[in-house]
Amino acid sequence: MCGIVGYVGAVDGRAILVEGLKRLEYRGYDSAGIALIADGGQVEVVRSQGKIAVLEERLRARPVSGRIGIGHTRWATHGRPSDENAHPHSSGPFIVVHNGIIENYSEIKARLEKEGCAFSSETDTEVIVKLAEREWNSGKSAKDAIVASLKQLRGSYAVVFLCQETPGELIAARKESPLILGLGEGACYVASDVPAILSYTNRIVYLEDGDIVTVRKDGYVIETLEGEKKERVPQIIDWNPVMAEKAGYKHFMLKEIYEQPQAVINTFRGAVDLNRMDIRLPQLQLSDSEIGRIRRIYLVACGTSYHACLVGKYFIEKVCRIPVEVDLGSEFRYREPILDADTLLMVVSQSGETADTKAALQEGMERGAVCRAVVNVVGSSLARMAGGVIYTHAGPEIGVASTKAFTAQLVALYLFGLYVGRAVNRISREDLPAYVQELIELPGKMEDVLSRSEEISSLARRYMHARDFLYLGRGVLYPIALEGALKLKEISYIHAEGYAAGEMKHGPIALIDENMPVVVLMDRGPLYEKMLSNVQEVKARGGQVIALVEEARDDKAGALEDQFILPPTSSWLKPVLFSLPLQLLAYHVAVLRGTDVDQPRNLAKSVTVE
Ligand code: AGP
Repeated sequence: MCGIVGYVGAVDGRAILVEGLKRLEYRGYDSAGIALIADGGQVEVVRSQGKIAVLEERLRARPVSGRIGIGHTRWATHGRPSDENAHPHSSGPFIVVHNGIIENYSEIKARLEKEGCAFSSETDTEVIVKLAEREWNSGKSAKDAIVASLKQLRGSYAVVFLCQETPGELIAARKESPLILGLGEGACYVASDVPAILSYTNRIVYLEDGDIVTVRKDGYVIETLEGEKKERVPQIIDWNPVMAEKAGYKHFMLKEIYEQPQAVINTFRGAVDLNRMDIRLPQLQLSDSEIGRIRRIYLVACGTSYHACLVGKYFIEKVCRIPVEVDLGSEFRYREPILDADTLLMVVSQSGETADTKAALQEGMERGAVCRAVVNVVGSSLARMAGGVIYTHAGPEIGVASTKAFTAQLVALYLFGLYVGRAVNRISREDLPAYVQELIELPGKMEDVLSRSEEISSLARRYMHARDFLYLGRGVLYPIALEGALKLKEISYIHAEGYAAGEMKHGPIALIDENMPVVVLMDRGPLYEKMLSNVQEVKARGGQVIALVEEARDDKAGALEDQFILPPTSSWLKPVLFSLPLQLLAYHVAVLRGTDVDQPRNLAKSVTVE
């Protein structure tokens, strides 16, 4: 998820672009750049790896100016953070900034290289501006060349173009990535999100998928790519700039909880080939023959990412019939793990910088294992150390408590299981469409659960003063019991334990009394009746039960006043849905208790020390 800003007006735009990018730094911050067309007509581009402060330093040394320009702060999806991969990207008279994922960029890049095109970056974005130049060279106008290039793209984009041949106008377009217009006095703005321009105007036009807009300082024209004019009513925004960085949410964590359906879509979309109904993971760099040699898989991570690995184990063993061991990053290297060339070590990490997980990967490399990584940050240490990666395209996760990265990790591990399952012929080509169809339906079910946050908020009010919580789950939901307990403890500071429900009678039942809320995860699978028994054991001792029940209320276990009903889904996808109410429960309890939800005490977003 990147930040884009564009400006055309009567005064110099450099400061406007830089300030706008700073307001978007939460969307991505591994590199940044701006481009301006100076009054003399020359194009000035300044880019830098690192945070926007580095760009500012370069601009102090090279104070470019112009009354029309574009800017970009990057969250890398293709190509590591570097000056060359930083936006804007230029070719011929065109300069572009882009937010999104061009799924067919490698095909386009190969075709253009065959025609003698030279590329200077590893990004998917550069193909957009190369295509525009190619179309322009064929005699099209600047706008028609841009339209023709956009029509060749598959995937998502929000783009803003400068063209040296038309220095009085910006051309912007969106498809599945957000883009807005800001209407000022004698100036117009384009941005990924409201915060970038709220200091200059609160009159906003929300562009829609398929819109392309020509923007001048005194107005704009919105059309479709087919040239049909479109009218969009300007809205008046009443947020303040700080609120706007969270898109109106009170905390980044809440915003990220609600971003999960999109994060799941972004994670699986690029990997699922709907035409061939197959799974593509080119960046994993793992051939069928290499997969054929794998006799054991280790999944290694820390914290929430470790819980994702526990879920991954169930699915991968089920569909691939290859033994999977799951280890904590902080333990793995001290137990002299049995690793060799027939072992695949997959580390999982949101940040890609966790010291214990890095050490585990180092151990695997030294012992000759095949090493891969699931990471959310392109170009992070783990992404660079491993022999290949699966990226969770969840976008920057600012809240310390991991939410959207977690469910995106689950999806990444599902994709890995399907990919390996196909390679070892445990999943036939005929089996795959059913799995893919369920993945496609998942985001809608997530939206349904998330839309009922108020039910969770009332549960939070009832139990916010408890001193201890117990979370119980069985089978593939046991790791979700662990994750739910971690979420609650790390942001509300209430002690919470996750337990395999079958273990309750082996100890934790001694804790049950009227002061101990017990969260039970009750999917309608083969273990449902056993979970009902757990509920009755808890209630028989005066315990308070909060039941997450699948499909329908269930009062077999007596008057269960506190139930949250989840939509049905296949067993392998239940962990994603059951996580959501647990994230919301932790969030609402923490808000009620007044803790710092986004930056809880003692914690860091990335634990880069052992
Ligand atoms: C989870 O909410 C915590 N923030 C923490 O457990 C985290 O999952 C862990 O530190 C691992 O981080 P990583 O995914 O960036 O490696």
